[in-house]
Amino acid sequence: MAEFHEISPNAPAAEKLLNWVDNRFPASKLFKEHMSEYYAPKNFNFWYVFGSLSLLVLVIQIVTGIFLTMNYKPDAALAFGSVEYIMRDVPWGWLIRYMHSTGASAFFVVVYLHMFRGLMYGSYRKPRELIWLFGCGIFLALMAEAFMGYLLPWGQMSYWGAQVIVNLFSAIPFVGPDLALLIRGDFVVGDATLNRFFSFHVIAVPLVLLGLVVAHIIALHEVGSNNPDGIEIKATKDAKGRPLDGIPFHPYYSVHDVFAISVFLMVFTAIIFFAPELGGYFLEYNNFIPADSFKTPLHIAPVWYFTPFYSMLRAVTNELMYALIACVLGGAVLGVTKVKMPNLFKGIIVGGAVVLVAMMFAIDAKFWGVVAMGGGVVILFFLPWLDNSAVLSIRYRPDWHKYLYAIFVIDFLVLGYLGMLPPSDIGGRVSQVGTLFYFGFFLLMPWWSRLGKSKPVPARVTFTAH
Ligand code: HEM
Repeated sequence: MAEFHEISPNAPAAEKLLNWVDNRFPASKLFKEHMSEYYAPKNFNFWYVFGSLSLLVLVIQIVTGIFLTMNYKPDAALAFGSVEYIMRDVPWGWLIRYMHSTGASAFFVVVYLHMFRGLMYGSYRKPRELIWLFGCGIFLALMAEAFMGYLLPWGQMSYWGAQVIVNLFSAIPFVGPDLALLIRGDFVVGDATLNRFFSFHVIAVPLVLLGLVVAHIIALHEVGSNNPDGIEIKATKDAKGRPLDGIPFHPYYSVHDVFAISVFLMVFTAIIFFAPELGGYFLEYNNFIPADSFKTPLHIAPVWYFTPFYSMLRAVTNELMYALIACVLGGAVLGVTKVKMPNLFKGIIVGGAVVLVAMMFAIDAKFWGVVAMGGGVVILFFLPWLDNSAVLSIRYRPDWHKYLYAIFVIDFLVLGYLGMLPPSDIGGRVSQVGTLFYFGFFLLMPWWSRLGKSKPVPARVTFTAH
């Protein structure tokens, strides 16, 4: 137990109170460790605001969610009407609802930018693998949270979107149909589905999300932040053991983040007040029609943040399976002939490839589409072990790496755009090329990240005072 700290009886009341608390709970110690004595690299740029913005949106979603739950009815007969009631009759209900629906999209905007920053500066590399893994867990939980939340207004898109996605699970061999039944709680999406999605959306997933965010930040503060130069600031310390290139998070970055939060809130409130549906991208028009199990909408598309992965699902056709089989066989032959390894490993690779190809012939393309959609997210977990580049940050990598990253971003955006459109021949073909590029980018990373000559990395961070 820490020693009891006495304070002068003449000290101001606030100081006495803090001392009383500190003797029982490490309030000041925590503040120092995580704020005023957390040394962050002094060269943070604009990309470093999205972590705090994600935290802000998380708080907005939880607070508005609590108030929405006070008037929402998780019942197939009442849900749609209760949302209309919130919008029209509950004082400020429209604001709370639009904050929550806009917040869902804002969450994905800031999280995608936050992840891209990690990708650019190699923030997932040693010793930050766990920060990244917790982040990927957060991303998965966030997707589950958004998917289940979307069913709750019980509009046409809620209903049919859930129907399409849950049906995908039935493509899994052997257990699929039972699994889909377990998720729905019925043979079609219905009241039972709405109830279980509600309980997961309001309590189960948010708890997991909060736990993961805490773990994410504890891991970050254990190893320290990376920076745009990808240089370890702990390598050069002063006599007191403080990193020479570090500055206290509070007040230097807290004030930085307050500025970012102000700009973010301007955009956020402008959308809420002037364009809450954002042309059908944030709230789809079909979702203002109550769910009708007898009327399938002509075109069912998920909300924009899911569409890159939805494109990957649609890209996998019987035809693409032949291309994939050729990739698996080609990869195995190249691996065995070009890479030096014991014969046992070669045998495992050849055996694995043969089994995989046999499965690819035997199981329907729809299942492999589901694998591609899930794999598009799961592959992110492996990033720390796929990247073999000599340096962390894109700044010091060969120039062509930058172009490759730019193509990756364009590819992801194009996949997202195509995922919103009804299927078409040309769109399908582009999605197939885009999907192959997406997976090629990650799966071939152990090879291409080693190529080319990286630039010399300075010993200290680059920083110009402003
Ligand atoms: C609710 C969602 C999330 C919250 C609240 C959150 C919060 C934060 C915060 C506050 C930071 C420190 C400030 C900063 O570096 O921007 C951070 C850093 C980081 N986050 Fe997240 N994060 C979230 C999601 C994710 C996701 C989905 C990933 C990746 C898959 C991720 C990967 C990282 C990495 C690698 C760092 C260290 C960056 C560096 O030091 O350069 N985070 N996060």
